[in-house]
Amino acid sequence: MSNNNISTVSPVMETYGRFPITLSKGKGSYVWDNNGRKYLDFTSGIATCNLGHVPNQVKEQVENQLQNLWHCSNLYHIPSQEQLAKLLVENSCGDQVFFCNSGAEANEAAIKIARKYAQDVKGKDAYEVVTFSNSFHGRTLATLSATGQEKIQHGFAPLTPGFRYLPYNDIQALDNLVKPETCAVLLEVIQGEGGVLPADPAWLARVSELCKEHDILLMVDEIQTGMGRTGTLFAYEQYDIEPDVISVAKGLGSGIPIGAIIAKQHVGKAFTPGSHGSTFGGNPVATTAGLATLKMLTEGQVIKNAQEVSSYLLEKLHTLAAKTDEIINVRGKGLLLGLIVKENAIDYVTKAREEHQTLILIAGPQVVRILPPLTTNKKEVDEFLEVMEKVFLIE
Ligand SMILES: Cc1ncc(COP(=O)(O)O)c(C=O)c1O
Repeated sequence: MSNNNISTVSPVMETYGRFPITLSKGKGSYVWDNNGRKYLDFTSGIATCNLGHVPNQVKEQVENQLQNLWHCSNLYHIPSQEQLAKLLVENSCGDQVFFCNSGAEANEAAIKIARKYAQDVKGKDAYEVVTFSNSFHGRTLATLSATGQEKIQHGFAPLTPGFRYLPYNDIQALDNLVKPETCAVLLEVIQGEGGVLPADPAWLARVSELCKEHDILLMVDEIQTGMGRTGTLFAYEQYDIEPDVISVAKGLGSGIPIGAIIAKQHVGKAFTPGSHGSTFGGNPVATTAGLATLKMLTEGQVIKNAQEVSSYLLEKLHTLAAKTDEIINVRGKGLLLGLIVKENAIDYVTKAREEHQTLILIAGPQVVRILPPLTTNKKEVDEFLEVMEKVFLIE
């Protein structure tokens, strides 16, 4: 039977307001559209292609894996999964890993393990997860319920119960953190989608202290901030905290879908055979990509490069901000940077793309988000800064 709507309705649901270009190739910090136009990509596929597009070392390993085994399910041992888990554990404060396929699923796993752990240890009334205003934790029902932004929740009531929101970076409000039903806190060390806003160290230290005192799990959502994005493998390393659970995704697979939580042993033990699972989670191809990516990040000079490039870029962005009242503030860490702007952020993003073939993002209505690959260099940053001068200084 034919469908008369086919010519008028997009066959892909319009959940994204897409920019009017089609990308067909990427290498390093550049992408090309289907007309062969080259763009400087300082979005990294929304903080995902941290090693740049199609990094050779990851490509080789994935190509090799594709010759052998694509999928086998978690009913069997998967060497790349076990090696990746080991490397994540060696490079974090966690002890055990659960693999899934995306950031939202990683946070789902975090929420589930927090409830399971608390119910095993404290009893069934300890189920509540505290999150913060302007956070972003994903689009599944539980993770959008965890997200402290009404616009993300709009239209999806009833929300999943068991979440409570406090204002981010508000130390006074922490007086209300602990309730008998509270089992965990879930927070971003730097809020990404919420406007590139770093946690205040004193506030985060107090959150951590309260969690320790009351046996509440401290869970950090490092989906955007992890994998070297903020100048250390995980952003929490720049604060004086030790989370019980870390959720990761995005940059872990260099663009091959993968997510994970890394938990301390006492928490990890709460997941037993049958309590959680995923058909594709930790699959051989995804974990091969993850392993190759994490080796590059932990063994090579990529993160050091990101730190150096970040200092250079930040300094130049501050200089630019001093020359224009279009930019109100510059903030962020590593290569997760935001320009707080006077007008609509999207207008600057459009100008950069349409007039200068440079891709940047927004993070809320008045924040321009800059996410270069961690492999970028001074030459590319200079090219980018020239564009920013034109976008911000020349009408
Ligand atoms: C901090 C944070 N958490 C969770 C998510 C959701 O990840 P995904 O889109 O892979 O489900 C994102 C995505 O932007 C994120 O930035």
